[in-house]
Amino acid sequence: MLTALLFLHNLLRWLVIVAGAAAVGTALSGLRRKGPPSAGEARAGLVFTIALDTQVLIGLAMYGIDGSTARAAMAAGGAAMKDGAMRFWLVEHPLMMVAALVLAHVGRVLFKRATDDDRKHRRALTFFGLALLAILAGMPWPFLAHGRSLLPHF
Ligand code: HEM
Repeated sequence: MLTALLFLHNLLRWLVIVAGAAAVGTALSGLRRKGPPSAGEARAGLVFTIALDTQVLIGLAMYGIDGSTARAAMAAGGAAMKDGAMRFWLVEHPLMMVAALVLAHVGRVLFKRATDDDRKHRRALTFFGLALLAILAGMPWPFLAHGRSLLPHF
C-alpha cells in the first residue's frame, strides 16, 4: 500500500508542476494580450488545483500507514524536530505543500471574482506563481540530504 502511494505521489508531482507552470504561463500571456481569459487559462488553473488536491490527499494518507517515514517521524515526537530528515517529512514538506494548496485555491476564487480582465490575469499570475514556488521549495530534490529520486522506480 505504502509503495503504491509513494509511486503515485512521486509520479503525480510532475503533473502538479507542469499544470502549475501552465497556469502561470497562460496567466502571463493573458496579461500581455490584455483580453478576457482564454478557456485554456481557466482550465489550467482548474487542472492545477485538482492535481494539487489529489497530491495533498495522497501525502496525508501516508501519515496513517505503518512503516512510512512520516509515521515514524510522528512517533518520534519532539526528537523528530532535532533530526533534519524527520523534521522535513513531519513539518517542512507538508507545511510548504499546504501553503501551496491554500494559495492555489485562494487564487482560483479571486480569479473568478475579479470583475476586470487585467485583474483576473494578475491574480492568477500572483497566486499560482506563489503556489508553484512553495511546491518547488518544499520538494525532496535528489541533491538534498533527505532527497528522493526524480522518478519512481519502475
Ligand atoms: C500536504 C501535502 C503533502 C503531504 C502531507 C505530503 C507528504 C509526503 C510524505 C509523507 C512523503 C513520503 C515520506 C516517506 O517516505 O514516508 C512524501 C514524499 C514525497 N512528496 Fe509529498 N506530501 C504532500 C504534498 C506534496 C506535493 C504537492 C508534492 C509535489 C507536487 C509532493 C512531492 C513529493 C515527492 C516527490 C515525494 C518523494 C516520493 C518518493 O519517495 O518516491 N508532495 N510526501
